[in-house]
Amino acid sequence: MAVQKYGLDLGTENIKLSHVSQGMILCEKNLVAVRKKQGIVAFGDAAYDIYERSSEAIRVTYPVCQGVIAGLTDMKQALDLFLKKAKCSNGFISGNAFYFSVPSDVTEVEKRAFFDVALSSHFKSKDAFIVEKPMAALLGEGVDLPRCAGAMLIDIGAGTTEVSVLAQGGIVKSRLLKMGGNTITDQIRQEVKERYDLLIGRKTAENLKLTLGSAIPKGRSSCTVPGRHMITGLPAQANVDARVVEVCVRRVMKAVAAEARNMMERVPPEIIHSVLDTGILVTGGASQTADLETFLTQELSLPVRMSDHPVESTAVGLTKVMSDPSLSGLAYSVRESIFS
Ligand SMILES: Nc1ncnc2c1ncn2[C@@H]1O[C@H](COP(=O)(O)OP(=O)(O)OP(=O)(O)O)[C@@H](O)[C@H]1O
Ligand SMILES: [Mg+2]
Repeated sequence: MAVQKYGLDLGTENIKLSHVSQGMILCEKNLVAVRKKQGIVAFGDAAYDIYERSSEAIRVTYPVCQGVIAGLTDMKQALDLFLKKAKCSNGFISGNAFYFSVPSDVTEVEKRAFFDVALSSHFKSKDAFIVEKPMAALLGEGVDLPRCAGAMLIDIGAGTTEVSVLAQGGIVKSRLLKMGGNTITDQIRQEVKERYDLLIGRKTAENLKLTLGSAIPKGRSSCTVPGRHMITGLPAQANVDARVVEVCVRRVMKAVAAEARNMMERVPPEIIHSVLDTGILVTGGASQTADLETFLTQELSLPVRMSDHPVESTAVGLTKVMSDPSLSGLAYSVRESIFS
């Protein structure tokens, strides 16, 4: 039996698994619920169901923070549960090979954590490889990376935004911003607290973002949300104006656009001309924000192309690296890079 290859995009909010020949096999919240002395009692979307609703005895946490593994023990245990749920091979006969997408702008120590996760898996990791996230995402968008004369990619995830310029099969420049869709959600919580004296949960703020959020101001609607009054401490509700949410969306998206402009000033003009031909590719879950295409086109004065599968593009790109021998050079063994 041949070595089974799995692509793993361990995101701050969502975990995406792909298989070399089956394609996407799982996409769930990258979240665990842990009870003291008992271990993980729920994971993935099921853990999200009890998020902010569980007793104090249960800790519900995200093992990945701003694109890197922060809770190593939780991530190791959760990964095996996700692999089992996706009915992955146990690698008993020939082992498995794991291909991780990792932001390019992180330290060797942070990369090593991915190797540790793979090595401790019960799914018999024969080897672990790293593919820089922007390369995987660009391949996932259908770009012929080895022959591409110049492309710019903006991946707006949950905890990070990666702005990268790629050319001739490599990364010319990449910058990781520690902000994304979750930053917008956190800011909405803060604004509602300050303007309405109301404490709201993260899920409520997320719903507000999805219902009222837009990168171009519309400001015509509002939404009533439950929470706890800051002064009385009693249950209360507020009718939140769309403009409050839009301010938070625009603040983050303006910072993203500023970074893209900044990047454009730092790469050779020849490459930028090719970027103009392709258009700036925008992916990642938060790129689904309403009217973001119009907003970025205005801010950057350049053509923008929005992904039509933004949450999965990186994992889809990993599938291409795993299956196409001409792309195998884009993956490097974590073992070699760390111990050489
Ligand atoms: N329709 C939508 N409008 C706006 N934001 C959205 C929408 N759908 C999902 N999101 C946001 O997308 C983010 C999740 O995207 P994604 O799965 O790409 O992140 P991730 O890969 O887990 O994070 P990261 O790459 O930063 O580690 C969340 O912040 C979520 O709120
Ligand atoms: Mg991501």
